[in-house]
Amino acid sequence: MELLKKLTGTFGPSGCEEKIAELIKKETEAFCDEIYTDALGNLVCRKKGNGKKVMFASHMDEIGIVVTFIDEAGFLRFADVGGLYLRNLINRRVRFENGVIGVIGTEENNEKRQMAKMFIDIGAKDREEAEKMVSIGDMAVFEGELTVQNGKIISKALDDRVGCYVLIEAMKKVKSENDLYFCFTTQEEVGLRGARTAAYKIEPEYALSVDVTDIGDTPKAPKMAVKLGKGTAIKVMDYSVITSVEVREKLIDIAESRGIKYQREIMMEGGTDAGVIHFTKGGVKTGGISIPTRYIHSPSEIIDEKDLKASIDLLVGFAEEI
Ligand code: CO
Ligand code: ZN
Repeated sequence: MELLKKLTGTFGPSGCEEKIAELIKKETEAFCDEIYTDALGNLVCRKKGNGKKVMFASHMDEIGIVVTFIDEAGFLRFADVGGLYLRNLINRRVRFENGVIGVIGTEENNEKRQMAKMFIDIGAKDREEAEKMVSIGDMAVFEGELTVQNGKIISKALDDRVGCYVLIEAMKKVKSENDLYFCFTTQEEVGLRGARTAAYKIEPEYALSVDVTDIGDTPKAPKMAVKLGKGTAIKVMDYSVITSVEVREKLIDIAESRGIKYQREIMMEGGTDAGVIHFTKGGVKTGGISIPTRYIHSPSEIIDEKDLKASIDLLVGFAEEI
């Protein structure tokens, strides 16, 4: 769990993934034949083989905020980097890359939430002092240290550092003749941008994106079949993709033959890197492995250790058997 703690704790909003890439590179170097980064910052680790060309994608970036304005009194105005839920923001702590901590406040005294009425308090006495601490364009991310309790993992940025963790652990275990590309992508949260150029360059025959998915098992949650602790989720569809029937059925076969617990997933909000990979060039047979996650895009996302292990096992199975 030490590695997942490092991954979630490392600063990396969209467009600022260098530190995550560095950490992943150190961890994976010994387990692959070739590593490269491209102009968009994607980190690609290849395990060479003579078989099928397969791409796995998890995004390195996390959601955050960007400073747009600093007022006379030293309060910061901001915009979102990725999809923030306004209900998650008030009185939350955010951390800038240089370590400065801010607290999000609002002008509004009611339950209505508008980002335009919110501000970040970094304890500066005026604009001049604030400008010594942060600049326009600086990004910050949620605070939310990783904790393990009752087999559950609670942290910020599990979306999608847990996917990166799955790829890393699978890379260490897999024994396959296939030509495997483990891609750690950039800027997913602002529109699946890194995966687009990564897939275009690789031209894979098959692809899997590994990301988090919503659950339907908390009180009065929307009716959704996926539950925490009930296994890895095999994606059927989300807002960005309808997965390849061949890939989906293969994943189910592998899960059943290897005794891996799984559930079928349809996520009606949001998408993943699969959304751009599947229509790259002449098209790529693409599927998805998802880790069931509560409170996505909050400082306290929750996953189950068993689902995490099942996701690693299924990815290894796919790499070996496709
Ligand atoms: Co996300
Ligand atoms: Zn994600």
